[in-house]
Amino acid sequence: GSIENGNFEWSAPSNIALVKYWGKKNDQIPANPSVSFTLNNCKTITKLAFEKRSNQKVFSFDLLFEGKPKEDFKPKIQKFLERVEVYLPFLKEYHFTIDTQNTFPHSSGIASSASGMAALAMNFMNLEKVLNPEMTDEYFYKKASFLARLGSGSACRSIKGNVVVWGNQENIKDSSDLFGVEFPYTIHENFKNYQDTILLVDKGEKQVSSTVGHDLMHDHPYAERRFAQAHENLDQLIGIFENGDLDAFIKVVESEALTLHAMMMTSMPYFILMKPNTLQIINGIWKFRKETQIPVCFTLDAGANVHVLYPKNAKEKVLQFIQAELVAFCQNGQYICDEIGDGAIAL
Ligand code: PMV
Repeated sequence: GSIENGNFEWSAPSNIALVKYWGKKNDQIPANPSVSFTLNNCKTITKLAFEKRSNQKVFSFDLLFEGKPKEDFKPKIQKFLERVEVYLPFLKEYHFTIDTQNTFPHSSGIASSASGMAALAMNFMNLEKVLNPEMTDEYFYKKASFLARLGSGSACRSIKGNVVVWGNQENIKDSSDLFGVEFPYTIHENFKNYQDTILLVDKGEKQVSSTVGHDLMHDHPYAERRFAQAHENLDQLIGIFENGDLDAFIKVVESEALTLHAMMMTSMPYFILMKPNTLQIINGIWKFRKETQIPVCFTLDAGANVHVLYPKNAKEKVLQFIQAELVAFCQNGQYICDEIGDGAIAL
Protein backbone atom coordinates (compact mmCIF):
# COMPACT_ATOMS: atom_id res chain seq x y z
CA GLY A 1 0.00 0.00 0.00
CA SER A 2 0.89 3.65 -0.31
CA ILE A 3 -0.65 6.91 0.84
CA GLU A 4 0.35 10.52 0.08
CA ASN A 5 -0.86 12.36 3.15
CA GLY A 6 -3.37 12.40 5.96
CA ASN A 7 -3.62 12.56 9.71
CA PHE A 8 -4.57 10.55 12.77
CA GLU A 9 -5.32 11.42 16.35
CA TRP A 10 -4.95 9.13 19.36
CA SER A 11 -5.20 9.54 23.07
CA ALA A 12 -3.26 7.34 25.47
CA PRO A 13 -3.44 7.36 29.26
CA SER A 14 -0.81 7.34 31.95
CA ASN A 15 -0.51 4.24 34.15
CA ILE A 16 0.49 3.58 37.73
CA ALA A 17 2.65 0.56 38.51
CA LEU A 18 1.74 -1.74 41.40
CA VAL A 19 4.82 -3.92 40.95
CA LYS A 20 7.53 -1.55 39.80
CA TYR A 21 9.81 -1.67 36.80
CA TRP A 22 13.19 -0.41 38.01
CA GLY A 23 16.27 -1.68 36.23
CA LYS A 24 16.67 -2.74 32.63
CA LYS A 25 18.90 -4.62 30.23
CA ASN A 26 19.81 -3.45 26.75
CA ASP A 27 17.10 -2.50 24.25
CA GLN A 28 14.55 -1.56 26.88
CA ILE A 29 14.23 -5.08 28.24
CA PRO A 30 13.04 -4.93 31.86
CA ALA A 31 15.12 -6.57 34.59
CA ASN A 32 11.86 -7.73 36.21
CA PRO A 33 8.19 -7.96 35.30
CA SER A 34 5.80 -5.19 36.36
CA VAL A 35 2.04 -4.71 36.51
CA SER A 36 0.02 -1.49 36.43
CA PHE A 37 -3.41 0.02 36.51
CA THR A 38 -4.11 1.95 33.33
CA LEU A 39 -5.47 5.39 34.25
CA ASN A 40 -8.41 7.15 32.69
CA ASN A 41 -8.11 10.94 33.06
CA CYS A 42 -4.39 11.66 32.87
CA LYS A 43 -3.64 11.28 29.21
CA THR A 44 -1.78 12.59 26.20
CA ILE A 45 -3.64 13.48 23.01
CA THR A 46 -1.45 13.42 19.91
CA LYS A 47 -2.27 14.31 16.35
CA LEU A 48 0.03 13.02 13.62
CA ALA A 49 -0.11 14.68 10.20
CA PHE A 50 1.98 13.08 7.47
CA GLU A 51 2.96 13.99 3.95
CA LYS A 52 5.04 12.11 1.37
CA ARG A 53 8.38 13.77 0.63
CA SER A 54 11.23 13.35 -1.85
CA ASN A 55 14.36 13.68 0.29
CA GLN A 56 14.33 10.44 2.23
CA LYS A 57 17.77 10.44 3.86
CA VAL A 58 16.87 11.76 7.31
CA PHE A 59 13.81 11.93 9.55
CA SER A 60 11.72 15.01 9.02
CA PHE A 61 9.26 16.22 11.63
CA ASP A 62 7.90 19.26 13.41
CA LEU A 63 6.80 19.10 16.98
CA LEU A 64 4.04 21.14 18.57
CA PHE A 65 3.23 21.02 22.26
CA GLU A 66 -0.13 22.57 23.11
CA GLY A 67 -0.13 24.19 19.69
CA LYS A 68 3.30 25.82 19.95
CA PRO A 69 6.64 24.63 18.50
CA LYS A 70 8.61 22.77 21.16
CA GLU A 71 12.28 22.35 20.27
CA ASP A 72 13.43 20.78 23.55
CA PHE A 73 11.24 17.66 23.07
CA LYS A 74 12.68 17.00 19.61
CA PRO A 75 15.78 14.98 20.61
CA LYS A 76 13.55 12.50 22.47
CA ILE A 77 11.39 12.03 19.38
CA GLN A 78 14.45 11.79 17.12
CA LYS A 79 15.83 9.03 19.33
CA PHE A 80 12.49 7.24 19.30
CA LEU A 81 12.36 7.38 15.48
CA GLU A 82 15.89 5.98 15.25
CA ARG A 83 14.99 3.10 17.55
CA VAL A 84 11.76 2.13 15.79
CA GLU A 85 12.85 2.67 12.18
CA VAL A 86 13.75 -1.00 11.66
CA TYR A 87 10.18 -1.90 12.63
CA LEU A 88 8.55 0.95 10.65
CA PRO A 89 10.76 1.15 7.54
CA PHE A 90 8.58 3.77 5.84
CA LEU A 91 9.26 6.53 8.39
CA LYS A 92 11.75 8.49 6.26
CA GLU A 93 9.31 8.61 3.35
CA TYR A 94 7.15 11.15 5.17
CA HIS A 95 7.33 14.54 6.79
CA PHE A 96 5.45 14.45 10.10
CA THR A 97 3.81 17.12 12.18
CA ILE A 98 3.34 15.84 15.71
CA ASP A 99 0.89 17.95 17.67
CA THR A 100 0.59 16.87 21.28
CA GLN A 101 -1.09 17.95 24.50
CA ASN A 102 -1.68 16.53 27.97
CA THR A 103 -4.89 16.62 30.00
CA PHE A 104 -2.86 17.18 33.17
CA PRO A 105 -0.82 20.28 33.98
CA HIS A 106 2.58 20.24 32.27
CA SER A 107 4.67 20.86 35.37
CA SER A 108 2.60 18.63 37.67
CA GLY A 109 5.45 16.20 38.16
CA ILE A 110 3.27 13.56 36.50
CA ALA A 111 5.50 11.85 34.00
CA SER A 112 4.07 12.30 30.53
CA SER A 113 6.56 9.90 28.94
CA ALA A 114 4.30 6.85 29.30
CA SER A 115 1.17 8.47 27.88
CA GLY A 116 3.18 10.51 25.35
CA MET A 117 5.14 7.63 23.89
CA ALA A 118 2.03 5.42 23.87
CA ALA A 119 0.02 8.04 21.96
CA LEU A 120 2.85 8.49 19.46
CA ALA A 121 3.23 4.74 18.96
CA MET A 122 -0.52 4.38 18.27
CA ASN A 123 -0.33 7.05 15.57
CA PHE A 124 2.63 5.44 13.81
CA MET A 125 0.95 2.03 14.01
CA ASN A 126 -2.13 3.60 12.46
CA LEU A 127 -0.02 4.65 9.49
CA GLU A 128 1.42 1.15 9.25
CA LYS A 129 -2.11 -0.25 9.29
CA VAL A 130 -3.10 1.99 6.40
CA LEU A 131 -0.07 0.70 4.48
CA ASN A 132 -0.74 -2.94 5.49
CA PRO A 133 -4.50 -3.12 5.97
CA GLU A 134 -4.55 -6.89 6.39
CA MET A 135 -2.96 -6.83 9.86
CA THR A 136 -5.04 -8.19 12.75
CA ASP A 137 -6.16 -6.10 15.70
CA GLU A 138 -4.08 -8.29 17.98
CA TYR A 139 -0.93 -7.58 15.98
CA PHE A 140 -1.80 -3.88 15.84
CA TYR A 141 -2.02 -3.44 19.61
CA LYS A 142 0.89 -5.76 20.41
CA LYS A 143 3.21 -3.95 18.04
CA ALA A 144 2.01 -0.56 19.30
CA SER A 145 2.99 -1.63 22.81
CA PHE A 146 6.31 -2.99 21.49
CA LEU A 147 7.06 0.38 19.85
CA ALA A 148 5.94 2.38 22.90
CA ARG A 149 8.36 0.33 25.01
CA LEU A 150 11.21 1.54 22.84
CA GLY A 151 10.18 5.13 23.60
CA SER A 152 9.82 4.67 27.35
CA GLY A 153 9.61 1.31 29.08
CA SER A 154 6.50 1.96 31.12
CA ALA A 155 4.72 3.37 28.04
CA CYS A 156 4.13 -0.19 26.80
CA ARG A 157 1.65 -0.56 29.68
CA SER A 158 -0.43 2.41 28.47
CA ILE A 159 -1.84 0.87 25.27
CA LYS A 160 -4.36 -1.50 26.79
CA GLY A 161 -6.78 -1.21 29.65
CA ASN A 162 -7.39 -1.88 33.26
CA VAL A 163 -4.55 -4.11 34.42
CA VAL A 164 -1.46 -4.61 32.25
CA VAL A 165 1.56 -6.89 32.77
CA TRP A 166 4.89 -6.20 31.13
CA GLY A 167 7.76 -8.64 31.46
CA ASN A 168 8.08 -12.35 31.30
CA GLN A 169 6.47 -14.10 34.29
CA GLU A 170 6.29 -17.87 34.15
CA ASN A 171 2.71 -18.26 35.38
CA ILE A 172 1.20 -15.39 33.40
CA LYS A 173 0.12 -16.63 30.03
CA ASP A 174 1.61 -14.77 27.04
CA SER A 175 3.50 -12.29 29.23
CA SER A 176 6.53 -10.85 27.46
CA ASP A 177 9.54 -8.60 27.97
CA LEU A 178 8.77 -7.04 24.59
CA PHE A 179 5.27 -5.61 25.15
CA GLY A 180 2.51 -5.23 27.70
CA VAL A 181 -0.46 -7.62 27.83
CA GLU A 182 -3.82 -7.29 29.51
CA PHE A 183 -3.85 -9.30 32.73
CA PRO A 184 -5.27 -12.58 31.39
CA TYR A 185 -7.07 -13.93 34.49
CA THR A 186 -10.09 -13.11 36.60
CA ILE A 187 -10.13 -9.77 38.36
CA HIS A 188 -12.34 -9.52 41.45
CA GLU A 189 -15.03 -6.84 41.38
CA ASN A 190 -13.35 -5.11 44.33
CA PHE A 191 -10.95 -3.71 41.74
CA LYS A 192 -13.65 -2.51 39.38
CA ASN A 193 -13.37 1.29 38.91
CA TYR A 194 -10.51 1.36 41.42
CA GLN A 195 -9.64 4.97 42.26
CA ASP A 196 -6.30 6.75 42.09
CA THR A 197 -6.17 10.25 43.55
CA ILE A 198 -2.80 11.78 42.73
CA LEU A 199 -1.54 14.20 45.35
CA LEU A 200 0.85 16.70 43.75
CA VAL A 201 3.56 17.18 46.33
CA ASP A 202 6.32 18.56 44.19
CA LYS A 203 6.13 19.80 40.67
CA GLY A 204 9.81 20.59 40.25
CA GLU A 205 12.18 18.85 37.86
CA LYS A 206 13.44 15.56 39.27
CA GLN A 207 17.13 15.64 40.27
CA VAL A 208 17.60 12.13 38.89
CA SER A 209 15.89 10.94 35.70
CA SER A 210 14.42 7.44 35.52
CA THR A 211 16.99 6.59 32.82
CA VAL A 212 19.80 7.23 35.30
CA GLY A 213 17.86 5.41 38.03
CA HIS A 214 17.43 2.28 35.89
CA ASP A 215 21.15 2.32 35.08
CA LEU A 216 22.09 2.50 38.75
CA MET A 217 20.52 -0.94 39.22
CA HIS A 218 23.43 -2.40 37.21
CA ASP A 219 25.96 -2.31 40.06
CA HIS A 220 23.39 -2.28 42.80
CA PRO A 221 24.13 -4.46 45.84
CA TYR A 222 20.49 -5.58 46.22
CA ALA A 223 19.57 -5.84 42.55
CA GLU A 224 19.26 -9.62 42.19
CA ARG A 225 17.16 -9.99 45.34
CA ARG A 226 14.97 -7.09 44.26
CA PHE A 227 14.34 -8.58 40.81
CA ALA A 228 13.38 -11.91 42.42
CA GLN A 229 11.06 -10.09 44.84
CA ALA A 230 9.23 -8.42 41.95
CA HIS A 231 8.43 -11.88 40.54
CA GLU A 232 7.19 -13.00 43.98
CA ASN A 233 5.02 -9.91 44.42
CA LEU A 234 3.53 -10.28 40.96
CA ASP A 235 2.78 -13.90 41.79
CA GLN A 236 0.95 -12.80 44.92
CA LEU A 237 -1.05 -10.24 42.99
CA ILE A 238 -2.37 -12.94 40.66
CA GLY A 239 -4.11 -14.54 43.64
CA ILE A 240 -5.17 -11.19 45.09
CA PHE A 241 -6.77 -10.06 41.84
CA GLU A 242 -8.77 -13.27 41.88
CA ASN A 243 -9.88 -13.31 45.54
CA GLY A 244 -10.21 -9.55 46.04
CA ASP A 245 -8.22 -9.55 49.32
CA LEU A 246 -7.63 -5.82 49.75
CA ASP A 247 -5.48 -6.18 52.90
CA ALA A 248 -3.08 -8.39 51.00
CA PHE A 249 -3.24 -5.98 48.04
CA ILE A 250 -2.25 -3.06 50.28
CA LYS A 251 0.75 -4.95 51.67
CA VAL A 252 2.16 -5.78 48.25
CA VAL A 253 1.52 -2.34 46.76
CA GLU A 254 2.91 -0.24 49.61
CA SER A 255 5.92 -2.52 49.99
CA GLU A 256 6.63 -2.17 46.25
CA ALA A 257 6.50 1.64 46.47
CA LEU A 258 8.86 1.79 49.44
CA THR A 259 11.18 -0.78 47.88
CA LEU A 260 11.44 1.31 44.72
CA HIS A 261 12.57 4.27 46.80
CA ALA A 262 14.80 2.06 48.94
CA MET A 263 16.61 1.04 45.74
CA MET A 264 17.20 4.73 45.02
CA MET A 265 18.49 5.34 48.52
CA THR A 266 20.85 2.36 48.35
CA SER A 267 22.31 2.93 44.88
CA MET A 268 25.67 4.63 44.32
CA PRO A 269 25.32 7.52 43.95
CA TYR A 270 22.32 7.44 46.29
CA PHE A 271 19.41 9.82 46.03
CA ILE A 272 16.03 10.60 47.57
CA LEU A 273 13.02 11.64 45.52
CA MET A 274 10.52 11.70 48.37
CA LYS A 275 9.91 15.05 50.08
CA PRO A 276 8.95 15.69 53.71
CA ASN A 277 5.33 16.06 52.60
CA THR A 278 5.46 12.65 50.90
CA LEU A 279 6.11 11.14 54.34
CA GLN A 280 3.47 13.30 55.99
CA ILE A 281 0.93 11.96 53.51
CA ILE A 282 2.02 8.34 53.97
CA ASN A 283 1.69 8.66 57.74
CA GLY A 284 -1.70 10.34 57.32
CA ILE A 285 -2.93 7.46 55.15
CA TRP A 286 -1.72 4.88 57.68
CA LYS A 287 -3.47 6.66 60.53
CA PHE A 288 -6.70 7.04 58.58
CA ARG A 289 -6.64 3.38 57.55
CA LYS A 290 -6.09 2.24 61.13
CA GLU A 291 -8.91 4.42 62.46
CA THR A 292 -11.49 3.73 59.77
CA GLN A 293 -10.55 0.27 58.44
CA ILE A 294 -11.09 1.71 54.95
CA PRO A 295 -8.75 -0.16 52.57
CA VAL A 296 -6.91 2.85 51.22
CA CYS A 297 -3.20 2.68 50.37
CA PHE A 298 -0.49 4.64 48.62
CA THR A 299 1.99 4.06 45.88
CA LEU A 300 4.77 6.22 44.46
CA ASP A 301 6.49 6.42 41.12
CA ALA A 302 9.89 7.98 40.53
CA GLY A 303 9.03 11.25 42.26
CA ALA A 304 7.54 12.87 45.34
CA ASN A 305 3.86 12.70 44.36
CA VAL A 306 1.64 10.20 46.13
CA HIS A 307 -0.96 8.05 44.37
CA VAL A 308 -3.78 7.22 46.77
CA LEU A 309 -5.48 3.97 45.74
CA TYR A 310 -8.89 2.84 47.02
CA PRO A 311 -12.06 1.06 45.93
CA LYS A 312 -14.84 3.08 44.34
CA ASN A 313 -17.25 2.51 47.25
CA ALA A 314 -14.87 4.37 49.59
CA LYS A 315 -14.62 7.41 47.33
CA GLU A 316 -16.71 9.85 49.32
CA LYS A 317 -15.01 9.17 52.66
CA VAL A 318 -11.51 9.10 51.22
CA LEU A 319 -11.97 12.37 49.32
CA GLN A 320 -13.31 13.99 52.49
CA PHE A 321 -10.23 12.79 54.33
CA ILE A 322 -7.90 13.97 51.55
CA GLN A 323 -9.48 17.41 51.56
CA ALA A 324 -9.42 17.70 55.36
CA GLU A 325 -5.99 16.22 56.09
CA LEU A 326 -3.80 15.76 53.02
CA VAL A 327 -4.41 18.71 50.70
CA ALA A 328 -2.32 20.82 53.10
CA PHE A 329 0.73 18.79 52.03
CA CYS A 330 0.12 19.29 48.29
CA GLN A 331 1.82 22.02 46.29
CA ASN A 332 -0.80 24.76 45.88
CA GLY A 333 -3.33 22.28 47.29
CA GLN A 334 -3.38 20.43 43.98
CA TYR A 335 -4.54 16.87 43.39
CA ILE A 336 -6.00 14.94 40.46
CA CYS A 337 -8.82 12.41 40.69
CA ASP A 338 -8.28 9.47 38.41
CA GLU A 339 -9.38 5.85 38.16
CA ILE A 340 -8.75 2.67 36.22
CA GLY A 341 -9.32 3.10 32.49
CA ASP A 342 -9.36 1.30 29.17
CA GLY A 343 -6.20 2.34 27.32
CA ALA A 344 -5.49 4.14 24.07
CA ILE A 345 -8.30 5.24 21.76
CA ALA A 346 -8.55 6.76 18.28
CA LEU A 347 -10.23 10.15 18.27
O1 PMV B 1 9.29 4.13 31.81
P1 PMV B 1 10.39 4.74 32.61
O2 PMV B 1 11.76 4.42 32.07
O3 PMV B 1 10.18 6.21 32.84
O4 PMV B 1 10.40 4.06 34.09
C1 PMV B 1 9.31 4.18 34.96
C2 PMV B 1 9.68 3.64 36.29
C3 PMV B 1 8.64 3.76 37.38
O5 PMV B 1 7.63 4.67 37.06
C4 PMV B 1 9.33 4.26 38.65
C5 PMV B 1 8.03 2.39 37.71
C6 PMV B 1 7.05 1.85 36.70
O6 PMV B 1 7.00 0.61 36.59
O7 PMV B 1 6.31 2.61 36.07
